[in-house]
Amino acid sequence: MNTLFDLGLVKDRIFETIVSTYDSNGEPNAAPMGVMTDGVQRLIIEPYITTQTYRNLVLHRCAVVNITSEPVIYYETSFKEDDPDKRAFLNLFEKADLINAPRLRDADAYIEVKVRQIDVKKGRAKVLCGIEKVYPVAKIPPKAYCRAPFAVIESIIHATKIKVFLSNGEKERTKELINLVKHYGVLVRKTAPDSVYTNMMKGILEKIEAWTKAKKRFT
Ligand SMILES: Cc1cc2nc3c(=O)[nH]c(=O)nc-3n(C[C@H](O)[C@H](O)[C@H](O)COP(=O)(O)O)c2cc1C
Repeated sequence: MNTLFDLGLVKDRIFETIVSTYDSNGEPNAAPMGVMTDGVQRLIIEPYITTQTYRNLVLHRCAVVNITSEPVIYYETSFKEDDPDKRAFLNLFEKADLINAPRLRDADAYIEVKVRQIDVKKGRAKVLCGIEKVYPVAKIPPKAYCRAPFAVIESIIHATKIKVFLSNGEKERTKELINLVKHYGVLVRKTAPDSVYTNMMKGILEKIEAWTKAKKRFT
C-alpha cells in the first residue's frame, strides 16, 4: 500500500491540499485546507468551525484529501459563490473508492481518510484522521518553474483571510494582505501576461474590492 511519504508528505510540515466531503444532503463540497502528518500515517486537518468542511467532517467522519498544485482548482474551490447554481462545481467530483466522500476528478493523488478524533480550541478544530487509502493517479511530468501559479495560490490564501479580517474589522492585517496580493498581481502580470493566471488575479482583486466596498457600506 502507498504511504503519505510516497506523496512527499513528511512530518511537521504544512502541505496545502483540497479536502472534499459530502454535506447533509449528500452534495459534494471541497475547500483548500493545510494538512500535516505526525509521521505515523495519520493526518491532521485544522478547519475553522465556521466552515462547511468542519460540519461535514463532524457529520460523516471521513474525507478525501486531494493533492494538486493546480491554481484553477484552488480558485474554483475557494470562491464557490462564483457558481451559485453549482453546475460547474458539482462536475468537479466523482465518488471516492473506499469511503463516503467525493474526490476531485483532476487531482494528482488522493488520500482517503476517516476521522478518529476532533478537538476544538478558539474556533478552530484539530481533526485527527486515520489513513484508509493513498493513491497517486498521475505520473506527473517534469514542470519548469514559473512564479505565476504559486503567486496565484498565495493570493487565494490571502484573499480567504482578507474576507475574515474585513468582517472582524482587523484593519491593519487586512491592509497588509491586500498589499501582498497587489504585489503578486504585478508579479503575475510580469511572468505570465494574458494567461489564466492573470485572469484569476483580476478575479481575486475584484472580489477584495467588492468585499471592501460592502464593508464600508455597512459600517
Ligand atoms: C491554500 C489554502 C489553505 C487553507 N487552509 C485552511 C485551513 O487549514 N483551515 C481553514 O479553516 N481554512 C483554510 N483555508 C480557507 C478555506 O479554504 C476557506 O475558508 C473556504 O471557503 C472554506 O470552505 P467551506 O466552508 O466550504 O469548508 C485555506 C485556503 C487556502 C486557499
